[in-house]
Amino acid sequence: MTGGAWLDEVRGVVDAELDRRLPPDHAEPTPLYQALRYALLAPGKRFRPALVMAAGRWLGLDPQDLLPAALAVELIHTYSLIHDDLPAMDNDDLRRGRPTLHRALSEDVAILAGDALQPMAFEWLMECRAEPERRVEALRALARAAGPAGLVGGQVRDLHPPAHESGVSADDLLALHRDKTGALITAAAVLPAVLAGDAEAVARLTRYGQAVGLAFQITDDMLDVAGDQLLMGKATGRDARQGKTTFVTLHGIEGAQAIAQQELAIALSQVHGASADALHALATFVVERDH
Ligand code: IPE
Ligand code: IPE
Ligand code: MG
Ligand code: MG
Ligand code: MG
Repeated sequence: MTGGAWLDEVRGVVDAELDRRLPPDHAEPTPLYQALRYALLAPGKRFRPALVMAAGRWLGLDPQDLLPAALAVELIHTYSLIHDDLPAMDNDDLRRGRPTLHRALSEDVAILAGDALQPMAFEWLMECRAEPERRVEALRALARAAGPAGLVGGQVRDLHPPAHESGVSADDLLALHRDKTGALITAAAVLPAVLAGDAEAVARLTRYGQAVGLAFQITDDMLDVAGDQLLMGKATGRDARQGKTTFVTLHGIEGAQAIAQQELAIALSQVHGASADALHALATFVVERDH
């Protein structure tokens, strides 16, 4: 199986379920539901839901029981993109091949839609079929990944880099990537093991997720330099224009690629057996991707 095939399979299920669950565009208040449908039903890769489902496959869990967790992670991710694109942050006009939400609708609605997605994610996550205590653990894991020690902390590190005289160091950048992108990707990989109450799998999937998360942001930085805007559905060259320190500015394209390959090897070494095929394919996709 290729990572692309697994992403296609999960995308079909996730898109249909999002469409089914979201109120129609004409539901009141209409700007909110228009915004939620616009942002969520746009053609994202659904990489994080695919990770949830791949980890569940490795553990032999019922995909239906995990679908709410897969959706919850995508809701948090989508909110983070909406806010990341705002004028006060990266000020971007294009996302998932379409105008960013604040350009298509308005800035206030984009902020509020992002706000709405966060509690929605936790509400949906609670629908997973698992022991109540494990569902609470899963909630804690997602909250931690999305919060100050995870995604939000990483976004602040990105926008307010430490002011050493020598500039952003390699360690600063690792911490930034770990929090901004790694935390949510790790949570996606780990949630099925948390819901199953399997401590050994939690440990393995944590190491897998951290490696995949780092590789994912490294390739995002590389694609910002060398990628094709049409394939990616977002503008390229933005990091350089905004003067961001990235894996490419610190290590060059080839250096960045080599670090991503090292992370791939770490990820692959964590999970074994025939049912780890989708986890292996997704990790490989991350370092080979063109979008
Ligand atoms: C983009 O994430 C933001 C990063 C963390 C690098 P994706 O590349 O997964 O974006 P979509 O969901 O496919 O649009
Ligand atoms: C954002 O990183 C990661 C998030 C937590 C949203 P980037 O700012 O590099 O993501 P893109 O390149 O806009 O998708
Ligand atoms: Mg950003
Ligand atoms: Mg951005
Ligand atoms: Mg980027």
